[in-house]
Amino acid sequence: MKSVLVVSHPLIEHSMTVLRDKQTRADEFRRHADIVAKLLLIEAAKDLTTGKLTIDTPLAPFDGQSLKSRVIVVPILRAGISMLSAAYELLPSIAVGFVGLVRDEKTAIADKYYEKIPKINSDDNIFVVDPMLATGGSMDEALNIVKAGGAKKITVVTIVCAPEGLERVAKNHPDVPIITAAVDEKLDSKAYIVPGLGDFGDRYFGTE
Ligand code: PRP
Ligand code: URA
Repeated sequence: MKSVLVVSHPLIEHSMTVLRDKQTRADEFRRHADIVAKLLLIEAAKDLTTGKLTIDTPLAPFDGQSLKSRVIVVPILRAGISMLSAAYELLPSIAVGFVGLVRDEKTAIADKYYEKIPKINSDDNIFVVDPMLATGGSMDEALNIVKAGGAKKITVVTIVCAPEGLERVAKNHPDVPIITAAVDEKLDSKAYIVPGLGDFGDRYFGTE
């Protein structure tokens, strides 16, 4: 595996506790999911490249830096959409691609129902975002899709991982770094992450 980075930050610790609390309602859940997504995306953006840009401050010329990298954010529908507003705020000029995958409730096997990926150049930075990495089936499939589209520089940004999912993604995509807020203990018999936070999509979209 290239790397798994568990981002440690007091704001993440606080927001993760709010997200995990079963009493937290959708409005607060969304607000804290957005905070965590932002802090993780800031970490993912650390390797983006900048180029020199000379501007004039009100007082003098200044040699500054301007972002050069093209970033494509690929949320895995549906829950990955929750991380898009944070991405727009930090990187307003991103392109966005979508992969729609849903897990069968009994087998936990991910089934693709939608795909719309923009043209990818080999030097584009692709952030594949999905808050939950459980068995890793959805992420594995999404990574296959973006790689088939030509992606070479890929980063996974996820909020909670299970060790089982990390292992699967690491085995099948050792070239892809993973940035996360938490690596939890295990999966339960229904492939939910424990202690986890429940069904992220249902809690975020208020469809419980
Ligand atoms: C959830 C989650 C991930 C997937 C993770 O989506 O958002 O996409 O499960 O599980 P895996 O690692 O075992 O594949 P779900 O299929 O529940 O759909 P949703 O996003 O529409 O709620
Ligand atoms: N998807 C979720 O939303 N939560 C889990 O615990 C596992 C998959």
